[in-house]
Amino acid sequence: MSEKATLTIDGKSYELEVSTGSENEKCFDIQKLRTESGFITMDPGFGNTGSCYSDITYVDGANGILRYRGYPIEEIAEKASFVEICSLLIYGELPNAEILDKFRKALAEHASLHTNLEQHFKGFPPSSPPMAILSAMLNLVSCFHPDVLEVYSEGHGFDRTAALLLSKVRTIAAYSYRMSVGKPFNRPNPHLDYCANFLHMMFSEPYREYERNEVIEKALSLFLILHADHEQNCSTSTVRAVASSRANLFSSISSGVCALWGPLHGGANIGVINMLEDIKTSGRPIDYYLDKAKDKNNDYRLMGFGHRVYKNFDPRSRILKNRLDEVLKELNKKDPLLDIALELEEKTLKDDYFVSRNLYPNVDFYSGILLRAIGIPLDMYTVMFAIGRMPGWIANWRELHDQRLRISRPRQIYTGPQERSFTPVEER
Ligand code: ACO
Repeated sequence: MSEKATLTIDGKSYELEVSTGSENEKCFDIQKLRTESGFITMDPGFGNTGSCYSDITYVDGANGILRYRGYPIEEIAEKASFVEICSLLIYGELPNAEILDKFRKALAEHASLHTNLEQHFKGFPPSSPPMAILSAMLNLVSCFHPDVLEVYSEGHGFDRTAALLLSKVRTIAAYSYRMSVGKPFNRPNPHLDYCANFLHMMFSEPYREYERNEVIEKALSLFLILHADHEQNCSTSTVRAVASSRANLFSSISSGVCALWGPLHGGANIGVINMLEDIKTSGRPIDYYLDKAKDKNNDYRLMGFGHRVYKNFDPRSRILKNRLDEVLKELNKKDPLLDIALELEEKTLKDDYFVSRNLYPNVDFYSGILLRAIGIPLDMYTVMFAIGRMPGWIANWRELHDQRLRISRPRQIYTGPQERSFTPVEER
């Protein structure tokens, strides 16, 4: 017998189907509620609203658990490569050696940009925000590869399109950096793997062979893995909403990039470094910043703290924090911002304001320090997040199409004026 929830409105009862997820999460289904009762539900920010059934990523915010396709993030972070995780998220299973090799070859094959697409970089002022460039250029790719407009599922070029996107996003990101610093583009090197190739395109100097650094490549791979998916967050929901109109993969993901840009979402990784730098240079005590963040009359927030879903530690932040010391040591670097970050975290853990609101460091709190250590420039941090999130966005795009979901179209409760008569301007 299936479970049901009963909703009673004005003495009339409505039975709502209850569904249970594989980790025992429960929902009741209100799809027929409006037609049957005339009522809708109200949930601004969607804190209590499920938009889909998904097999991709599981987050248990109360217990600080994150799993990609069932695999705990801690294990993945230790043992996997980013490319393997892309394959896992998009296709549902870990690839065997043959599949992985094929996937790697496809990524190498699609790394370069059409010459005319490259020309578009010249149209951007050097100071352009890299997230604006990334979003615009990803949308533009479809002009040069019109076949990507036709792809709706596997068997219709999905594999090729997904590889094309994963590969080109890296090239676009690196070229936008090269353009911003007035340096020539470094064309992709098909003999380098995903992370090494990106670092080569970012940092190789003309006539000098790219010097590989395993510590940096592994740290970059870890960063990308930790950002690879996070179920129905703001940018992924945006990708799904756009995709639900049957928009192509590139335009859907270009919208996701725009959603990620905001400081409350992916843009927080830049905000964290600016905040830590400010604490360092101002010479003010950390308590000054804590008081400012707690002040209800001030919009200031501790960047990298808090999360809609995690009401416990964000496991990604823990992994980053544990790994940071090692990476800095291996690179023979010290970062005074790490000491400030550690002190800040320690103080919040003893402060009732943060404890009572479950405000712990999120993924963005320590990720910027890792990116600094491996030489990524500050204004590229959110772009790095976007590169990492690509497989999650692609997997969600594909799942939505495979499930043939309806177009996203929330309802509202109208609170504006009631009907009134229009008066021509000369009579007003
Ligand atoms: N600093 C100080 N107070 C905070 C913070 C913060 N970083 N975050 C939340 N609060 C407080 C709010 O003022 C509110 O207090 P109140 O109950 O007294 O009014 C309470 O905690 C709940 O906050 P909400 O804004 O309702 O939480 P929500 O779930 O809507 O927002 C968010 C989550 C956006 C992440 C928020 O915590 C925030 O702005 N954090 C800083 C930005 C950030 O780090 N974003 C990255 C998130 S992770 C990611 O997107 C990859």
